[in-house]
Amino acid sequence: MRHLMTPLDLSVEELDELMDIAEDIKADPSKYAHACDGKVLATLFYEPSTRTRLSFEAAMLHLGGKTLGFADAGSSSAAKGESVADTIRVVSCFADIAAMRHFKEGAPMVAAQFSGIPVINAGDGGHQHPTQTLTDLITIRSTKGRLSSMRIGMCGDLKFGRTVHSLIRALLRYENISFVFISPEELKLPDYMIEELNTHGNVSYREVTRLEEALPELDVLYMTRVQRERFFNEEDYVRLKDYYILDSGKMMLAGKDMIVLHPLPRVNEIAVEVDRDPRAKYFEQVQNGMYIRMALILKLLDITV
Ligand code: NCD
Repeated sequence: MRHLMTPLDLSVEELDELMDIAEDIKADPSKYAHACDGKVLATLFYEPSTRTRLSFEAAMLHLGGKTLGFADAGSSSAAKGESVADTIRVVSCFADIAAMRHFKEGAPMVAAQFSGIPVINAGDGGHQHPTQTLTDLITIRSTKGRLSSMRIGMCGDLKFGRTVHSLIRALLRYENISFVFISPEELKLPDYMIEELNTHGNVSYREVTRLEEALPELDVLYMTRVQRERFFNEEDYVRLKDYYILDSGKMMLAGKDMIVLHPLPRVNEIAVEVDRDPRAKYFEQVQNGMYIRMALILKLLDITV
């Protein structure tokens, strides 16, 4: 039985295979409409979510399966003090596969150890978010035609942003990747991520504070929201939240083929006017997210169509 905790749980070949299946589902959804007949997905969300939870549920429904679960810790037995280990043992009796989001780093890993069914990490604290990474990778591959030889700017909350940490990990395995990390001093990448980058001979990176400086050279700009819920005090959040705002003026500094990604939800960091720019791919990214989750569910349930 396999779980998905970090993007590294899948080999580069498996990632490619998943993306190929997702493309095939997108091209011919009816072929897959009954692939998961009789199967049940549990969504165990201890932390708020719109996209990820609905995307998982939509993925299972479009495969012909069913879903059950909870959308906040308050409405589950966690409110009574039940451990994640016990909850997953119980859920294993009701479902065939589970997606878990938790505010504590490592909680889905604990669940996986006690689970009778495959567990997918749907975001654990400021740590990892592997299915968002699958979504990001397929969007880069489908718009740019490749994942190697890429200059990627990551902008915003690089300290707490788990989508950033997962995407860096995944991209480190491709050839000729260079990163520009754009953040205020207080929201720079955590040391453990810098160490991962340094132990990888294959990659180059630099850290800057000005978005304008990085824009002209990028193939991909990955914008992120300042992660309010992980701040210790509101004043710091208020001071940093509007540090970067990508607008049409700044987009003029970028190349005509640069794409803009964002895991969403957006707050102020991308002005709404940018949505009309053909380089803005964040809503396409959401759509890809459902197809790649369909492919992932099939893989973890060992179903071939
Ligand atoms: C992200 C998350 O939950 O980490 N959202 C998502 O799953 N698409 C990003 C965020 O909340 O800022």
